[in-house]
Amino acid sequence: MPDDQMPPLFFELFSGLPRQGPGDDASTRRALGLLPALTPTSRVLDIGCGTGAQTFALAEATPAHIVAIDNHAPFVEALNARARACGLAHRLEARVGDMRAIDPALAPVDLVWSEGAIYAMGFEAGLRAWRTLLAPGGHLVVSEACWMRPAVPAECAAFWDEEYPAIRDVPTQLARIPGCGYDIVGHFPLPASSWWGDYYAPLEQNVIAFSARHRDNAEALALAATVAREIDIWRRYSSYYSYEFFVLRAG
Ligand SMILES: C[S@@+](CC[C@H](N)C(=O)[O-])C[C@H]1O[C@@H](n2cnc3c(N)ncnc32)[C@H](O)[C@@H]1O
Repeated sequence: MPDDQMPPLFFELFSGLPRQGPGDDASTRRALGLLPALTPTSRVLDIGCGTGAQTFALAEATPAHIVAIDNHAPFVEALNARARACGLAHRLEARVGDMRAIDPALAPVDLVWSEGAIYAMGFEAGLRAWRTLLAPGGHLVVSEACWMRPAVPAECAAFWDEEYPAIRDVPTQLARIPGCGYDIVGHFPLPASSWWGDYYAPLEQNVIAFSARHRDNAEALALAATVAREIDIWRRYSSYYSYEFFVLRAG
């Protein structure tokens, strides 16, 4: 998923998806279940929210007030429209913002949540910066791409080296967490099914339709080929990597 200023072709290719990265509601709820219960006065920030797949899962499972942040305005508008349609707008609001410079007026919060987005800042940089947003005893839940097995095949390693060279294994990330100011409450990987159902399956359909629409546009076809390759790598090597959820408490 591209970050920052999303070029129009990217936006077109990634539009209309239920979510903008791997994940599922069951995993969101599983991570939530490791935390103390939220109340109607609890404040939550969902950073890198996209169109809000996990934001709505959080809003449905808790009575908390949620502010969702993303730097891509069309995602924010879609999220707010859905919140109004669901009757949740009184306690769920999305705002355009940069995860690297969250408005300090939004803090302190009881919970910072970020699924599949901390890569845009870097794992440790994100953990350190978002620690400052938490109330004492507050929690941070993030998911981050991690190696799940050693001896990664060369083709898979080369793909990730191009796309996200900062990928590490889970023990390496766990070792970094205390130095960023957190205690580890729990962690678990996303199941392989969460990459396919709400993400790669609809994205693959988008790739097919997008390639047909832009069959004379070399730039668009190159973009479609990049995404198709990502899906192909996942099909062949999905046991080697996934996203790991990290559930952390401010230490
Ligand atoms: C892989 S998507 C994940 C979206 C959503 N959390 C989900 O799981 O469906 C990453 C999101 O981070 C957003 N993003 C990237 N860089 C950002 C930044 N600097 N500030 C805020 N949001 C950013 C992107 O626009 C995108 O919506």
